[in-house]
Amino acid sequence: MEKKEEVIKRYDEIAKKDLSCCAPECCSPETVISFFPQRYSQEVLDEFPNEISELSLGCGNPIAFSEIKEGLTVLDIGSGAGLDVFMMAKKVGKSGKVIGLDLSKEMIKKAKDNAKRLNIDNVEFRLGDIEDMPIESDYIDLIISNCVINLAPDKEKVFREAYRVLKRGGKMVISDIVTNKPLPEDIRGDIDLWASCIAGALAEEEYIATIKKAGFLEILILEKIKFFSMEKLGLDGYSITVKAEK
Ligand SMILES: C[S@@+](CC[C@H](N)C(=O)[O-])C[C@H]1O[C@@H](n2cnc3c(N)ncnc32)[C@H](O)[C@@H]1O
Repeated sequence: MEKKEEVIKRYDEIAKKDLSCCAPECCSPETVISFFPQRYSQEVLDEFPNEISELSLGCGNPIAFSEIKEGLTVLDIGSGAGLDVFMMAKKVGKSGKVIGLDLSKEMIKKAKDNAKRLNIDNVEFRLGDIEDMPIESDYIDLIISNCVINLAPDKEKVFREAYRVLKRGGKMVISDIVTNKPLPEDIRGDIDLWASCIAGALAEEEYIATIKKAGFLEILILEKIKFFSMEKLGLDGYSITVKAEK
């Protein structure tokens, strides 16, 4: 099965069963030691029912590094069950809008149900591929993403699409996984590790170069936290939060 299909099948299952992903138990325990930092304050999480705040599968807190003002049009690429979208919906207010994009039908269904339950109506969830976004060009003020782009087989396409949909002067703030050096081919081919946000990670240097190649300016790494370690290979993975501008 293609990597992308396998990833989406996994997230469909997670949405249906409310399983956790990217969790230590889903990765081969002999090779991967995972670290899970608390990303949101309890105060922020307490604003949502447990079933909604628990289905948060990110690896950073891009919202904390974004200036989200009233009236903005925001896009969350790989929005999952929608927690980040709902947090931002409050900040953009009635004159703004947050669009969540995800390729898992079950995640989109869950996110729409959650929006209804929370009675939030300035959000929209679209089913689509982040490598080929169903979004108008020059339409978005701010893109955020939380632990998604590592899952995409073609990251260059994702960043080109992100650049296309942003307005000039628009910002992208993304949390994602990178490594200290390129992963060996046998690990990159391990579909379980890919779906667990490990095997699809690029080396940090290549990741930043790919963002630059898509046309982005003012690229800055705002945060870097150890996320996993493969000690025998001298390989470390980090959750980084990166900001860039069109
Ligand atoms: C690790 S989860 C993160 C979800 C969400 N950002 C959060 O913080 O809870 C990854 C999400 O990316 C979605 N995804 C993976 N590959 C995708 C693709 N090519 N296009 C759109 N969504 C994708 C998955 O369906 C899943 O919902």
